[in-house]
Amino acid sequence: MTTSFIIAIDGPAAAGKGTLSRLIAAHYGFHHLDTGLTYRAVAKALLDAGLPLDDETVAERTSLDIELAGLDRSVLAQHQIGEAASKIAVMPAVRRALVAAQRKFAARAPGTVLDGRDIGTVVCPDAPVKLYVTASPDVRARRRYDEIIGGGAAADFDAVFADVKKRDERDMGRADSPLKPADDAHLLDTSEMSIDAAFQAACELIDAALKKD
Ligand code: C5P
Repeated sequence: MTTSFIIAIDGPAAAGKGTLSRLIAAHYGFHHLDTGLTYRAVAKALLDAGLPLDDETVAERTSLDIELAGLDRSVLAQHQIGEAASKIAVMPAVRRALVAAQRKFAARAPGTVLDGRDIGTVVCPDAPVKLYVTASPDVRARRRYDEIIGGGAAADFDAVFADVKKRDERDMGRADSPLKPADDAHLLDTSEMSIDAAFQAACELIDAALKKD
């Protein structure tokens, strides 16, 4: 294999795509990029510098400076950062800058796993494997709620549920690169599927595509 084998994983917030992507990358020895972190890093840089979240020129400049190597979900996980990320993610100039960096990452040998919202549709439309991982809003809100409570913080389920719905609307409703399954994506609904079962299903699809490569 001389070029990179790309696995594109998309889906809404808290559908389980992050966990699934990490398992897949470890199993196949591929590089993994959680592209949500690139949007979160831009949002955090703007928030830390006290810069506005609605100035596309400022947000674009910040996007061009983002280093993929230093991204760490533990510093970028905060709810406020996720909200800000989904606001700056509607800006075409921000998306252009981050997509260019993501494509460069995707080309790394021997293979890469990228997860996000527009990987199969925009970032890597030629990826030989595309998965669209989803779950009902109720299940996703429950998972997010359990995560927050598990981390020792307080949470209100109705507020978490409302946030999940709001984020879905913003991600699916934006004009540039809205969240939607690519025509050739395999759908994995994890509402009633364990992460292990989703991983097994994904491996079958990936193994079949690797044989063809
Ligand atoms: O996945 P995560 O919650 O970390 O993503 C934060 C936000 O970044 C998403 O709500 C979405 O608006 C944006 N995003 C995006 N395209 C991607 C990945 C994330 O627009 N490929």
